[in-house]
Amino acid sequence: MTADLFDAVPDAPSQEAIGEGAVLLRGFARDNESDLIADLRAVIAQAPFRHMVTPGGHTMSVAMTNCGAVGWVTDQSGYRYSPTDPRTNQPWPAMPRSFHQLAKLAATRAGFADFVPDACLINRYTPGAKMSLHQDKDETDFGAPIVSVSWGLPATFLFGGLKRSDPSRRLRLAHGDVVVLGGPSRLAYHGIAPLADGEHPVLKRQRINLTFRKAR
Ligand code: SIN
Ligand code: FE2
Repeated sequence: MTADLFDAVPDAPSQEAIGEGAVLLRGFARDNESDLIADLRAVIAQAPFRHMVTPGGHTMSVAMTNCGAVGWVTDQSGYRYSPTDPRTNQPWPAMPRSFHQLAKLAATRAGFADFVPDACLINRYTPGAKMSLHQDKDETDFGAPIVSVSWGLPATFLFGGLKRSDPSRRLRLAHGDVVVLGGPSRLAYHGIAPLADGEHPVLKRQRINLTFRKAR
């Protein structure tokens, strides 16, 4: 028999508290990765990525789309959740069951067992794309956490405090990592540093991020 010590221990995802109410679950979204990515491709086929414009008139470097009952949008008139895709005026694609399950499992692991997401913002970063420090505050209920899933190229997550001027930690997020921001960290400032170039075996030269929210 050639079993060694490591064969006996399943590759359990690790869990790291990164702040009060904030948890990093490394590798949590790797389990049924191929189903999740197939479901992602189906959503994108229905509602393609697009670069939205901020109320200040700036075109975002991150391309976005949504699935779920409502989707996050921005244009010259502001940030909001919309039940329809402004490109088509049709409802956003439904949230795949696999997505919903992943978000609920991750939230439960982080201590938010009653999380029911109704929105999933999908962000696509290509090399150089970034997201400046911001708070997620367009939702109605800050009692519900945000569940954020990373796939593809690794990124540097900037995790700050409740004030923009608070210092921020830099955490590396890799393929399959999940961050849950809830409780006192629900309104923490966060962002993504400009994406470094690279080639991911499955997703090639991009990083995909899903953020699950209870928007309404
Ligand atoms: C976001 O804050 O909406 C995205 C964060 C990320 O890409 O990890
Ligand atoms: Fe955010």
